[in-house]
Amino acid sequence: MESLGFEIVKECGSARVGKLKTAHGVYETPIFMPVGTNANVKLMRSEDLKEIGVGILLGNSYHLAVRPGLEVIELHGGLHQFMNWDGAILTDSGGFQVFSLKKLIKISDEGVLITSPVDGSKIFLTPELSMKIQRTLNSDIVMVLDHCPSPADGYKEVLEATKRTYRWALKCLKEGVQKHQLLFAIAQGGTYEDLRIESAKSLSELPFDGFAIGGLSLGEEYEKTLYMSEVSVSCLPKHKPRYFMGGGSPALIVRLVEIGVDMFDSVFPTRLARHGTALTWEGRLNVKASRYKMDKRPIDEKCSCKVCRNYTRSYIHHLIDREETLGGILLTYHNLYFMMDFMKRLRESILQGTFGSFKEEVLKAYEKDNV
Ligand code: GUN
Ligand code: ZN
Repeated sequence: MESLGFEIVKECGSARVGKLKTAHGVYETPIFMPVGTNANVKLMRSEDLKEIGVGILLGNSYHLAVRPGLEVIELHGGLHQFMNWDGAILTDSGGFQVFSLKKLIKISDEGVLITSPVDGSKIFLTPELSMKIQRTLNSDIVMVLDHCPSPADGYKEVLEATKRTYRWALKCLKEGVQKHQLLFAIAQGGTYEDLRIESAKSLSELPFDGFAIGGLSLGEEYEKTLYMSEVSVSCLPKHKPRYFMGGGSPALIVRLVEIGVDMFDSVFPTRLARHGTALTWEGRLNVKASRYKMDKRPIDEKCSCKVCRNYTRSYIHHLIDREETLGGILLTYHNLYFMMDFMKRLRESILQGTFGSFKEEVLKAYEKDNV
């Protein structure tokens, strides 16, 4: 393997175990990456993330460039030092985050003009500026600026967004990243099969280090998410990592790993935790339910995390009932531990050639989730 990059270790059907080498360590794929938008994963300290085996974290360029601002990150020498994280960081380009602001943007081929919802100030986010921000953040994996169309957009708009995403990808390549950073392209195409093919194929011809599938899990039907992902993956180079953006329920992960996706991110485990729901090997567990008031068992009897070894469902139920912050802290720790354990067992099943039965087991507990 070259000094940085990706190598496939073992395949089981289209599912694969790989190694992704970054400037901050080598990580096994398929991998789940927790989301740390504001330079923190909500309710988790960096040392907690380390302790449970998190390898790569997500950060958001746009959010960090607005607050605290690049001069603050630069003062620390980069995002790793700022948040005391020595694992790897993937930064999203800002495209997706600004498109969710909808009414506050004006888009042209040069970039997106964003009006800050906080103070009305304006930023013109271009492919070049997004690269500059991500070079300053000094993340390990940099995402190109893309135009993610809304699921409500028709063919013409999606075609336009897909073409623009390609032109911006070229500009990001030209602008470049630091030599220890990896640069990933993002395939779009909405729910149109021909545009998915066109987007993934044309980007595949360019020398990116990895390829993401964007614009999905945005409210379209579950079957569409899976089918469009499959169409995109079939056009991407086999020997580069494939990253599904913004999806990470256990069910969706096993379905996408089955077709050859390697990387995932989602707020799913952390957001559920803050709303009082735990992930377990038997499916979701709503700790708020009154039946847990007198339940002395751990959250998940099959989990060996610090929370499950030391606290009862009854206690956590009480904390959530009283709206104590600690309830969310304990559940977030458990849910992320569960995701790490889940991904480890998933990789083991591919290595041992038993991915099929692992998948069935997971779908029994989680197929209803669809996110
Ligand atoms: N996060 C989830 N979906 C997307 C997408 O389509 N583009 C980007 N940049 N980030 C995402
Ligand atoms: Zn646990």
